[in-house]
Amino acid sequence: MRTQVAIIGAGPSGLMLGRLLEQAGVDAVIIERKSPDYVLGRIRAGVLEQGAMDLLDAAGVGERMHAEGLIHRGVDLAFDGDMLNINFEKLIGKHVMVYGQTEVTRDLMDARRQTGALTIYDADDVAIHDFDGTAPRVTYRKDGVTHTLDCDVIAGCDGFHGVCRASVPENSVTSFERVYPFGWLGVLVDQPPVAEELIYAHHERGFALCSMRSNTRSRYYVQVPSDEKVENWSDDRFWDELRARLNPATAAVLKTGASIEKSVAPLRSFVAEPLRFGSLFLAGDAAHIVPPTGAKGLNLAMSDVKVLAEAFIERFVEGSMAGTDGYSAKVLQRIWKAERFSWWMTSLLHTFPETGNFGRRIQRAEFDYLAGSLAAQQSLAENYVGLP
Ligand code: FAD
Ligand code: PHB
Repeated sequence: MRTQVAIIGAGPSGLMLGRLLEQAGVDAVIIERKSPDYVLGRIRAGVLEQGAMDLLDAAGVGERMHAEGLIHRGVDLAFDGDMLNINFEKLIGKHVMVYGQTEVTRDLMDARRQTGALTIYDADDVAIHDFDGTAPRVTYRKDGVTHTLDCDVIAGCDGFHGVCRASVPENSVTSFERVYPFGWLGVLVDQPPVAEELIYAHHERGFALCSMRSNTRSRYYVQVPSDEKVENWSDDRFWDELRARLNPATAAVLKTGASIEKSVAPLRSFVAEPLRFGSLFLAGDAAHIVPPTGAKGLNLAMSDVKVLAEAFIERFVEGSMAGTDGYSAKVLQRIWKAERFSWWMTSLLHTFPETGNFGRRIQRAEFDYLAGSLAAQQSLAENYVGLP
């Protein structure tokens, strides 16, 4: 089998890249190690920036997002019970969209099924070869048979634990990493959200986030130690802990119920440099990880593949290498700004036992500064809704 672009991974990065290439007439095949149901069962991000919304529209898959997504004009920050509304619309004239990663993935999968574009699911032992040479190719096993896909370029869209970045010789790539000593325990529940907007809450017991997927489905998180086991958390224990971290007025109107999903996600900041190795290009979580506090992971994945799709189209349709040559440097600029913002939001809102009472006073001062400064609020707003 032969294609121009072999895409590894059918998460949002791989599916969006495939869609943009298909629209431009560039041939691509996606190889995914899990099943479609498994991919759709992962509950992850919930907030889309304007750039991601525009990309879904440009890809012709924005219809359901506009019909079912919720426009959010701001977010609330809470610090030990004091509330601060950050109104994006008033501060910078922009907003974000609450529309889950699961739905984005479903819309892209449906579009791919309709056009008959090839996605190979349940592929075992995916391996990439000769991306530094003249005959790049991908091998995988499906139903016990080994297959080879010859290609011109390989797009590594296979997430943080994928095979692509791991295949790059260690001395060719530099990793920048910060692992936080905590994770988020998340619960999905079929109950109306506790408030109209998202609430990011700092409390001495730890961070909490009130988010949502729709007017009838809510998503809540609490900060837990990174080695915490989800089995230790009954629904009742989760709701008690969440209530304890919210201000009393919010806690009083929280609607609880049986969880339909519960999981712990570790928090990490990570960037690989560079993001191109011969004919291999990394995008999305394969290239970088942000802690979810800034709601940037999915949005960064979308902005990477927008640039990568343009670069591949330039190469295969117009015959110019400029886009692929410039890819790594171009996306890294935006990636580092999102890393900075996600690290900053994480630092402001979580509890860090190791920084002691000095650290807590600094966090309080940061919150008070934010509450008193329109300039600081504007800075938060322009980063949250997404830098150009
Ligand atoms: P992924 O979604 O990870 O997709 C990669 C795909 O590649 C997967 O389908 C995987 O099965 C496949 N794959 C992996 N290895 C191979 C292989 N060897 N061969 C073939 N296929 C392979 N962001 C937020 O903004 N808010 C959140 O609340 C949030 N929560 C998260 C919770 C978790 C547990 C995780 C892991 C991430 C979360 N994120 C969140 C981040 C966000 O979901 C990611 O940034 C986004 O999924 C990135 O998309 P991607 O397509 O690059 O990677
Ligand atoms: C979510 O709804 O899952 C969500 C929203 C905002 C974040 C992180 C996660 O910052």
